[in-house]
Amino acid sequence: MSKYYITTPIYYPSSNLTIGNAYTSVIADCLARWHRMLGEEVLFLTGTDEHGQKLQQAAEKQGLTPKTFVDYMVKSDVLRLWQLMDISNDRFIRTTDDFHVKAVQEIFQKLYDQGDIYLGTYRGHYCTPCESFWTDSQLVDGMCPDCHRPVVEMQEECYFFRMSKYQDRLLAYYEQHPDFIQPESRMREMVNNFLKPGLEDLALSRTSFNWGIQVPFDPKHVIYVWLDALTNYLTILGYPEKTADYDKYWPADLHLVGKDIIRFHTIIWPIILMALDLPLPKQIFGHGWLLVGGDKMSKSKGNVVDPHVLVDIFGVDAVRYFLLREIQFGQDGNFSGEALINRINSDLVNDLGNLLSRTLAMVEQNFPQGLPEERATGDFDQELAAQADKAFTEATAHMEKLKLSAALESIWTYIRRANKYIDETQPWVLAKDEASKPRLAAVLYNLCDSLRRVSILVAPFMPATSREIDRQLGLERSEVQENCQGLPWQEAGKANLYPAGLVPQRGEALFPRIKLDETLSLMDRKARERSNTLADMKEADFAALRKGADVDELLHQ
Ligand code: MSP
Repeated sequence: MSKYYITTPIYYPSSNLTIGNAYTSVIADCLARWHRMLGEEVLFLTGTDEHGQKLQQAAEKQGLTPKTFVDYMVKSDVLRLWQLMDISNDRFIRTTDDFHVKAVQEIFQKLYDQGDIYLGTYRGHYCTPCESFWTDSQLVDGMCPDCHRPVVEMQEECYFFRMSKYQDRLLAYYEQHPDFIQPESRMREMVNNFLKPGLEDLALSRTSFNWGIQVPFDPKHVIYVWLDALTNYLTILGYPEKTADYDKYWPADLHLVGKDIIRFHTIIWPIILMALDLPLPKQIFGHGWLLVGGDKMSKSKGNVVDPHVLVDIFGVDAVRYFLLREIQFGQDGNFSGEALINRINSDLVNDLGNLLSRTLAMVEQNFPQGLPEERATGDFDQELAAQADKAFTEATAHMEKLKLSAALESIWTYIRRANKYIDETQPWVLAKDEASKPRLAAVLYNLCDSLRRVSILVAPFMPATSREIDRQLGLERSEVQENCQGLPWQEAGKANLYPAGLVPQRGEALFPRIKLDETLSLMDRKARERSNTLADMKEADFAALRKGADVDELLHQ
C-alpha cells in the first residue's frame, strides 16, 4: 500500500488563530482525506511552534511563564479550532514536547560535530515578529522585507550554519526536480531573489533571550526557532532514531505552507536535510493568502476574521467549501461576508442542496417503499453518466496537481448537470402516468446514484455533508473507509451502485438559504460579541493562571 505524508506548518500559538491559518489546515485536511479515500496510508501532521522571543514576550505580558502560556493557548485555541474545522490530523506535535527537544539538540550536535555549524559573531538586524535575521542588503527601507516592520540592531556571539556550502547542490536539485516547488513561479522567485545573489551563513543561535531549546554544549545559547520548527517534520517520526515510522513515511510527500514561509521550506529546510544526508521532501506547495478587502489580516487593522464566528453562523462545511473554492491554486483570495453568502446560496443551496431535496421528495412521494428493480432507460441517461465519469477523471487530475478549487469546479459541473437532467426528464410529468412508472423509477434511480457519487467526490471537502447525503439516501457507511461508502476507490465511483429498494430518509435541507443583509449584520454583531467574550475570558483565565491554576482544570479537560 502506498503512503502519503502531508504536513501543515506548525502554528505560533502567540495569539488566537485566524481564518487565514484555518485555510492552510483545511487544504491539508482535504488532501489528507482525498489520499485516504484512494486507499493510501496517510500520515497527516500538524502542530504548534512554541519557542522564540515572540512567545516569551507574549507570556511575559500576561505575567505567565512561557510554558503555561503556550499550554493554555494550544489547548484553549489551537486544538479546539481544529476540532471545529473537522481537521483529521493523525498526529499533533508541540515543539515543547520532550522527544522533540532532545532530537533537535541531537541534530544541532551532529551538524556541529561534522563542521557545518561554527561559532562566530552576528552583526545585523532581527525582526522579532517574523523571527528572522536580515542583513543590510536584505532590508527594504530599513524595515523587515517580509512584514515591513522595524528591525532591531544586533551584535552577539552566535553559532552559524554553513548554508553557503550547499548552495550549488540546492540549485542543481531544483533543476533536476522541476516539480519540487509549487506553483512553479515560486521556484523562480527563490532562485532569483536568494540563491543567485548567494546565500549567507545562517545565524543559528541566540543569547538575548532564553525561551528555546538550549545548544547542548553551550547552554547560554538557544537554538534558532526555525531550525527547531522545521525539524518537527522529522522528529515526529522518531528521528534521529531510525524508526519504522521514519522508514515508512520519510521523505514527506507534501509540505503545505503559506507563501510567506516558502523561503524557509525551500532553502533552509532542504539544506538542513542535505547536511544531515537525508532525502528531501517530494514537494513544497506555497499557497496564496486569504485577504480581507484586498489587505492582509492584522489585529492593528481590526480586520481579523475569526473562524469560530463563521462556523457558528454558516456551519463548518460551508466555510470549508468557501475556502477551498474561492482561492485558486497558489493565488491570493479575498474574504468577504458577501462572497461567502453568495457562494453558499448559489453552489450549496441551489445546486447541491436542491438536487438532494428535489430527488428525495420525488422518491418519497412516488416510491415510498424504495425504488423498484424494474426501470426503463431513456434520453439523457447517457449524458448524465458521461458527466459523472468526467467529474471523477477531472477531479482526480486536479487533486494530483493540488488544484482543489478546479476539482470542485468539475464536481459542480456534474451537480449542475444532474439538476438539468431533472428539468429535461420532467419526473413530475412522468409521475402522472402509471405507464411511465418504470421510466420514472429509472430517472430517480439515476439521480440517487448521482447523489451517491457526488457524496464520494465532496467527502474530502465537506465530510459532514457527505455523511448527511449518504444518510438521507439510506446508504450505510463503513467505519473503515467511511468516505468511500465502504468500497475501494476504483469501485466506488462507478455507476449503478446505489442499491435498489433502499428507503431514503429525507431530512432537513443540507444548507438553509441565507438572507444577505440580515446575515451580514449578524456576522458583525457576533464578531464583536465573540471578541469581547474572548478578551474577558482570557483575562480571567490568565488571572487564574497567575495564581497557580492548572491549565487542564481551567479548561475542563
Ligand atoms: N510557525 C511558523 C511556521 C513554522 S513551520 C515549520 C509560522 N506560523 S504562523 O502561525 O504564523 O503561520 C502558519 C500558517 O498560517 C502559514 O502557512 C501562513 O501562511 C498561514 N497563514 C496565516 N495567515 C494567513 C492568511 N491570511 N491567509 C492564508 N494563510 C495565512 O509561520
